[in-house]
Amino acid sequence: MDKDDFFRIKELYGEEDIIPAHSFGKHVLEVYRNAKELLDEEDVDSEVVKYSALLHDVGRHIPGDGGHAEKGAEKAKEFLIDELGKESDFAEKVSECIRFHSNRPHLKPPTREAEILWTADKMHASGATGLCRFLLTLGAKNYSCDGAVDILERRVSEAEESLKDFGFDELVDGLDTLKSFAEQYREENHVSN
Ligand SMILES: [Fe+2]
Ligand SMILES: [Fe+2]
Repeated sequence: MDKDDFFRIKELYGEEDIIPAHSFGKHVLEVYRNAKELLDEEDVDSEVVKYSALLHDVGRHIPGDGGHAEKGAEKAKEFLIDELGKESDFAEKVSECIRFHSNRPHLKPPTREAEILWTADKMHASGATGLCRFLLTLGAKNYSCDGAVDILERRVSEAEESLKDFGFDELVDGLDTLKSFAEQYREENHVSN
């Protein structure tokens, strides 16, 4: 990762913490660190993974309709070619990782690099931190508590399945905090799933 590129990408996210649960400083950098950790064991194009980790949520900062993964994939490709002078083949690979980084099962990451990005992102959706980020994100979209818990449980079971599919079984335990929160919520509120 070129140092200047790093700062150019940081600038692309604009003012820090405008979207607190997905900001460059509080989320993207964590995903970048997670991706680098996962890369230790992998024989892949590490630069594709690093650039995609830094650029993966740039679509959340683009106003308008459409999913943030798709918007971010287009924006990242354009930025890598036009602003950072990267080869189109490299930009396409990064873009593909970003396009598929959002939730499964409807979109399955097509390359190992994309699976690593997906996993690095979901690592930051685990534990107490992941729970807090999840509730803040759905709260900003005016979800009810019952509605948020429904989605949480669906996401947890999709994440569990995907982590196992990708060979990251050891990360499944990170979902325990989210699972027990949902169970306790249902008990307290007498809501069945
Ligand atoms: Fe995302
Ligand atoms: Fe993310």
